[in-house]
Amino acid sequence: MPIRNVKGLVALVTGAASGLGRGTVERLAKQGMKVVVADLPSSKGAEVASHLGADNAIFTPVNVTSEEDVRKALEETKKAFGKLDVVVNCAGVAIAAKVYNFNKRRCHDLADFNRILSVNAGGTFNVIRLACELFAENKLDDQKQRGVVINTASIAAFDGQMGQAAYGASKGAIVSMTLPLARDLAADGVRVVTIAPGLFQTPLLAMLPDKVRLFMQSTVPNPSRFGDPDEYAAMVQHIIENPYLNGEVIRLDGALRMQP
Ligand SMILES: NC(=O)c1ccc[n+]([C@@H]2O[C@H](COP(=O)([O-])OP(=O)(O)OC[C@H]3O[C@@H](n4cnc5c(N)ncnc54)[C@H](O)[C@@H]3O)[C@@H](O)[C@H]2O)c1
Ligand SMILES: *[C@@H]1O[C@H](CO)[C@@H](O)[C@H](O)[C@H]1NC(C)=O
Repeated sequence: MPIRNVKGLVALVTGAASGLGRGTVERLAKQGMKVVVADLPSSKGAEVASHLGADNAIFTPVNVTSEEDVRKALEETKKAFGKLDVVVNCAGVAIAAKVYNFNKRRCHDLADFNRILSVNAGGTFNVIRLACELFAENKLDDQKQRGVVINTASIAAFDGQMGQAAYGASKGAIVSMTLPLARDLAADGVRVVTIAPGLFQTPLLAMLPDKVRLFMQSTVPNPSRFGDPDEYAAMVQHIIENPYLNGEVIRLDGALRMQP
């Protein structure tokens, strides 16, 4: 069976202090993987890592848009665990703003648009390009593999709602870089797969009023509820395990197609 056992593999997960990233490090550590919790210095990353135990997890303060921060995190990864097998890009930011507000006669802020693009698309690309330096140190395994990259887009890349021009564009960029990256890295045994989540129960959504959350859940055909971060994490685990998944974007959304 070519299905790979994840035990002993080392993963760096960005945005791992919260939500989908946190669910991912929790699941992967439980499967016997070593995890690097890479998140902003101001995040709860240290807490998340210490909860998983010093043998299984370290926290590295990282702004994914910074070359220096990501390099440092990769050095820490090597120092603590000796190698890197998997990168999961979960760090991301969102904004809700229309391109033009005709009542207030106000344009969408350009700096906001660029910031969302920079963190979501630029940050994802930055982490991938630098992580390849550590992948390069891995020997090819018996299936000629040496690394896996998993990105997080959103169904907003396909059916972005009102106010999601910047967020949708940033996630569309992640979708569109998936295949060329998989092609770039194919000959050297690195796979690239992107997950496009629907609505997941994370701190982001937990903050909304009950009424809004109930309505949002009712828009999901089946199962008619928010996704659990562990369902996202289980998809991450499967992508690592299944060597035939590559260059693809997988919707994980209970058949939700968002309305305007
Ligand atoms: N929750 C959902 O329903 C949903 C749906 C579709 C896509 N997504 C995507 O999944 C990813 C995770 O979302 P979440 O719901 O877990 O959000 P979250 O806010 O709970 O977690 C995101 C994490 O990213 C970190 N982060 C933000 N900017 C960063 C930066 N510059 N450098 C490093 N870390 C940074 C934050 O500190 C935070 O810990 C995001 O990319 C988001 O766009 C989420
Ligand atoms: C991340 O780095 C960028 C570029 O240096 C900076 O503009 C931004 O404020 C930083 N983000 C955070 C949350 O510190």
